[in-house]
Amino acid sequence: MGKSVLQIKNLSKNVGKKSIVRNINFEVNQGEVFGLLGPNGAGKTTIIRAIVSLISRSSGTVLINGTDVSVDFKGTISEVGAIIENPEFYMYMSGWANLQQFARMSRKPISEERMNEIVSRVKLTDAIHQKVKTYSLGMRQRLGLAQALVHQPSILILDEPTNGLDPQGMAEFREIIREVSAQGTAVLISSHLLSEIQQITDRFAIIEKGELTHIETMSDIMNEAHAKYLLKVSDVDEAIRLLAVIGVEANVVDDRHLEVSILEEQVPMVIKELMVNELDIFAVTAKIGSLEERFFELTEGGSL
Ligand SMILES: Nc1ncnc2c1ncn2[C@@H]1O[C@H](COP(=O)(O)OP(=O)(O)OP(=O)(O)O)[C@@H](O)[C@H]1O
Ligand SMILES: [Mg+2]
Repeated sequence: MGKSVLQIKNLSKNVGKKSIVRNINFEVNQGEVFGLLGPNGAGKTTIIRAIVSLISRSSGTVLINGTDVSVDFKGTISEVGAIIENPEFYMYMSGWANLQQFARMSRKPISEERMNEIVSRVKLTDAIHQKVKTYSLGMRQRLGLAQALVHQPSILILDEPTNGLDPQGMAEFREIIREVSAQGTAVLISSHLLSEIQQITDRFAIIEKGELTHIETMSDIMNEAHAKYLLKVSDVDEAIRLLAVIGVEANVVDDRHLEVSILEEQVPMVIKELMVNELDIFAVTAKIGSLEERFFELTEGGSL
């Protein structure tokens, strides 16, 4: 695992007497895509705004590359690229002119070569000299990404970035995020959609009612998700008896189906055992619903 780029320690935010988020702790490593998953109103945007100091923190510490943002705000924030809510542009200027404007304000010098490189990465080369008002939502979102990335930050922070994008727009967006993280940039992304978090993150935190309740690693979840198989067989009772002999526990689903929790590499063994005993197998299906079931467990009722 890469080194820690962002560390959040005991972050809390109160507004008046109301506690909005409490004791949030997590870190995001180099090259990692980390998600904040939670329903509407859980506190995701509040956490993100507090990280980038768009709102004050009531308590807690935010470190970027090991430096406390309240000790060196300018230095640390120059290592952050963010899209929070909708990116804002000068609509009557071209994408390129918007990017130039942003580059001029940057603390780090940004070459024209770097600008061309990022424009190409977000696939806007053909449209970059058109006025932004002619851009589709997906193109504006990609220009936002270019703006957030042009100064080569250590971490990219995105609050619900695919809201409003169509499936193709979402897929293109995910591809860019993957490329960016593969080059070592850390990414923090919030969403209320399980499917989005599932497709894009390496690890994610579940945020519920202002608290971080779990941190999960996607590969662990996927392994668990694939460990349940549904078998359709000619004789359920006989199948259960045979599987018990080889130490595989099976549960009856109905008079033709049973469910087994096994590793993928045990599947052939289970099939062979049934076949040599002349049981017919009509289907073996990996239970794709398991990830959602797992979330249901994690969120104790599945409000997501
Ligand atoms: N300045 C504020 N004053 C009072 N309440 C606030 C303030 N800011 C946020 N809240 C409340 O805190 C809760 C968390 O809001 P937040 O916007 O962080 O949630 P979210 O997880 O981003 O939700 P969504 O998925 O809808 O974007 C909400 O109930 C919101 O109404
Ligand atoms: Mg929000």
